[in-house]
Amino acid sequence: MTAPATVPDHVPAHLVKSFDFRNDKAISSDPYGYIASLNDCPEIFFSPDLGGYWIARSTDAIEEIFADHERFTATSLAIPKRDASVVLIPNNFDPPKHTAYRKAMANNLFSPRALATIDPDTRAFTLKLFDEFTPGRCEFVSEFAYKLPIDTFLNLMGADLSLRDQCLSWIKLIFRGQTVEETNQGFIDAFSWVTEWLQQQLANPAANQGPMFQALMRMKIDGKRPDFDDMRSMTLMLFSGGLDTITSQMTHIMRFLAENPGHRDYLLQNPSAIPVALEELLRRFGISFIGRAAAKDQVFRGVVMKQGDVVCAGTPIAGLDADQWHNPLEVDFDRAGGRRVKHLGFGAGPHLCIGAYLARKQLTIMIEELLPRMPDLRIAPDAGAIESHAGATLMLKKLPLEWNVAT
Ligand code: HEM
Repeated sequence: MTAPATVPDHVPAHLVKSFDFRNDKAISSDPYGYIASLNDCPEIFFSPDLGGYWIARSTDAIEEIFADHERFTATSLAIPKRDASVVLIPNNFDPPKHTAYRKAMANNLFSPRALATIDPDTRAFTLKLFDEFTPGRCEFVSEFAYKLPIDTFLNLMGADLSLRDQCLSWIKLIFRGQTVEETNQGFIDAFSWVTEWLQQQLANPAANQGPMFQALMRMKIDGKRPDFDDMRSMTLMLFSGGLDTITSQMTHIMRFLAENPGHRDYLLQNPSAIPVALEELLRRFGISFIGRAAAKDQVFRGVVMKQGDVVCAGTPIAGLDADQWHNPLEVDFDRAGGRRVKHLGFGAGPHLCIGAYLARKQLTIMIEELLPRMPDLRIAPDAGAIESHAGATLMLKKLPLEWNVAT
């Protein structure tokens, strides 16, 4: 566990409140209730946990931290701060350096060409996983939520699906590590895994017809082919950014649907309303605690920050901001009068999630394909307490589900 930091001299005592999203017991038992209770805190406050860091509580402040790279640099993303030797492209770059990489990734890796078969492939993976469940019962986290994003992604990268468990082992360390050493170890493991995998693929690129891998081969940044280090960093970024996030999101959404038959029936009867409903679910169940570092000494919203201070922009916090959302804990599919709510679940500004289309696709297909196959969906009566992992993303530990099977 990271030793609590002494509170630096420039932090006034009235702004100090402990909030440890990696270890807090309250996060495990009732993450969103606990996060909603932060509404009583000042707009910006300082937690002495995890090495000491600032937390923004209001949506406006969180959006500003995401958007203003001149005040908040993305060159340091982790909380607690970690070894800077593993750079994630494009996330760790600030504009203007960030811009060319981001554009090249968006135009190649996430182009319609690279994602041409994403819909049918994701549906096929979803149905395959459903068919592997014991009829009428599953442990949703390990049997579905972990598997679908990894299978989908390995398929896009042309990697063997048998690599799923290896990926999972370091993803868990990166996102669930309780110490700096554990998260660093996760990155080191991931780094060597991606190095070896990419070297093998580059030895004979034509043999790998994964559409995202082929897009990586075609990619040019400012007219030049990326070198090995850049390719490795982008690949590592995609593996670490795109898997645990979707898993986490799936667990909360599926739990909500299992516990709320009214909302579930509405979606079953109005499948065309799923995209609008999904945005409300993404608002209500934000999952990411993202770090920045103050780029200079500054006064932010009346609070003195020193260059290098760690600052957290939490998407679960933004989604439950009571000044922004009426009854924030309530899920209201009609919250924006039939339109999609504008939330910060995928961040904002230059680093707005580049994989949001891929994430929305998998979440939509999960709802579209699983709900009709799971009549009278419910939490299994022997499930016990449903707990969350604390960590950089909020994820349920286990979600045992039951549904009726026609006899
Ligand atoms: C529900 C699933 C997802 C959530 C909630 C999510 C959330 C986020 C958030 C909040 C950011 C902003 C980070 C920042 O400002 O530092 C981000 C950035 C990013 N995400 Fe996602 N993400 C998801 C899925 C994905 C997927 C599927 C991929 C790719 C396979 C992906 C790749 C990335 C990348 C590369 C960035 C950095 C973009 C940049 O720096 O320009 N994400 N994501």
